[in-house]
Amino acid sequence: MSIDSDNSMELEPIETASLDELQALQLKRLKWTVDHAYYNVPMYRKKFDDAGVHPTDLRQLEDINKFPYTTKKDLRDNYPFGTFAVPMKEVVRIHASSGTTGKPTVVGYTQGDIDRWANIMARSIRAAGGSAGDKVHVSYGYGLFTGGLGAHYGAEKLGCTVIPMSGGQTEKQVQLIQDFEPDIIMVTPSYCLNLADEFERQGIDPKSCSLRTGIFGAEPWTNAMRQEIEQRLGIHAVDIYGLSEVIGPGVAQECLETKDGPTIWEDYFYPEIIHPDNHNVLADGEQGELVFTSLIKEAMPIIRYRTRDLTRLLPGTARTMRRMDKITGRSDDMMIIRGVNVFPSQIEEQILKITELSPHYQIEITRDNNLDCIAVNVEVRSNDTSGLDRQKLAKELQHHIKSLIGVSSQVNVLDENSVVRSQGKAQRVIDNRNL
Ligand code: DLL
Repeated sequence: MSIDSDNSMELEPIETASLDELQALQLKRLKWTVDHAYYNVPMYRKKFDDAGVHPTDLRQLEDINKFPYTTKKDLRDNYPFGTFAVPMKEVVRIHASSGTTGKPTVVGYTQGDIDRWANIMARSIRAAGGSAGDKVHVSYGYGLFTGGLGAHYGAEKLGCTVIPMSGGQTEKQVQLIQDFEPDIIMVTPSYCLNLADEFERQGIDPKSCSLRTGIFGAEPWTNAMRQEIEQRLGIHAVDIYGLSEVIGPGVAQECLETKDGPTIWEDYFYPEIIHPDNHNVLADGEQGELVFTSLIKEAMPIIRYRTRDLTRLLPGTARTMRRMDKITGRSDDMMIIRGVNVFPSQIEEQILKITELSPHYQIEITRDNNLDCIAVNVEVRSNDTSGLDRQKLAKELQHHIKSLIGVSSQVNVLDENSVVRSQGKAQRVIDNRNL
C-alpha cells in the first residue's frame, strides 16, 4: 500500500489558493446563487419574503445565516420539478433519491451543472490518488441514484478507463475485477465487504487483486471499518461524501495523503454546522447538523439545505478548504434506547474490535412494555473456527456496548452469511416497534 503517485502538480489552483481568494470567490458565487434562487424559484422567493430577507442583504459570507433553511419536505412539496430555476429545455438530466416513504426527491442538472459535477468528481478521484490511465471499477448503482453516473463522468473526465459495473451480480463483479485488473474501485463500504467475501468464497485472497484504492461513501462507515477494508483487500480506503439534493457524490473527498476526513469542495458548496434542535449556527469544530448552500448550480440552486448528517467542520490540511469529520450518522438514524442516543456507527466500532466476528451486522429495534430494546445481529467470521464459544463472544460484545455506549442490548452471534448482505447502501437498522 504505497502512495505511489504524486499528483500535487495537477491540482486546480483554487485547491491551494489562499483563504482570502477562496472566500472572495465564495462570496461572489453566493450572491449569484441567492439572486438566481429568488428570481427564478417561487418557493425561494416566498421563503425569503416570509423571512423578510432579500438577496441584497447578502453583503458578506456570514450574512447567509439571515436566509431560511431548506428541508427535504420543501423539495417534496414542490415535486417533481418545482424547485428548478431554469426552463425544462435546459435541464439535461434528472436524478432522484428514493427515500423510505412517499415520493422521491427529484434533482435536475443543466449541461453546465453536469460538466462542473464531472469536474469535482475528477478532482475527488485525483485527491484519492487516481490519475489518467487508471482503470476505475464503478459498483455504485447506475440509474436515478447519483452514485454510478456521478463516479462515471468524473472518472472519464480525469482520463481514466471506466468499468461501469453498477451494483449487484457479486460473482461477476469479482470475475471482472480479476480479468480487467482495475486500479480503483468506487463502491459503498458495505458492498465492498460483500465483494471481499465473494473473493474468499471463490478461493481467491482479496489482497491479491489489482486494486490499489477504494473510494467509499453513500453510507456512514467508521475508521474501524476503514482498517478492516484496508487490511482485507490490501488497498487504501478513502471517504467520499455527497447527497443528491446538493449534487450527488463529490461534495467532499478525503485526500489520500492525509486520510483525515473529506475536504469539502468549498468553491462549489458553502458548508455550515447548526444545532440540530435550536438551529443556531455553530462554530467550526463543534458537532452538529451539516447544512449546504450550492454556489454555482444552475438548474437547482439549493439554499441552506439541512442534510440531517451529523459531523463537524475542521480546518484544511492537504487543501485550503475545510474538512468535515467522518459522519457519525444521520439524525434520523439515531436510536433513542431508554433515553440514550445511539448511532449504528458506535455499535459498528464495537463489533469490529472483536476479531472473531465478521463486519456484517444489523440492529433490530423492538418495543417491550413501552421500552425500546435493541438486538444486535452479528455473525462469526467462519463457521469452521473450532472451539469458538459464541456465547462468550455475545457476552463480550454486549459488555462493550453497555460499558462504552451505555445501553443494554441482546447480541445474537449467528452463522457465517446469516446477516443480509448489502448490494449498495446497507440497511443497518430494522425498526420493528410498530409491528
Ligand atoms: O449517497 C451520493 C453518493 C453516492 C455519495 C456515492 C457518495 C458516494 P443520496 O442517495 O442522496 O446520495 O444519499 C445521501 O447518504 O445525506 C448521507 O446521509 C449519506 N452519505 C453519503 N456519503 C456518505 C459518507 C448519495 N461518505 C446521504 N459518509 C447523505 C456517511 C454518507 N454518509
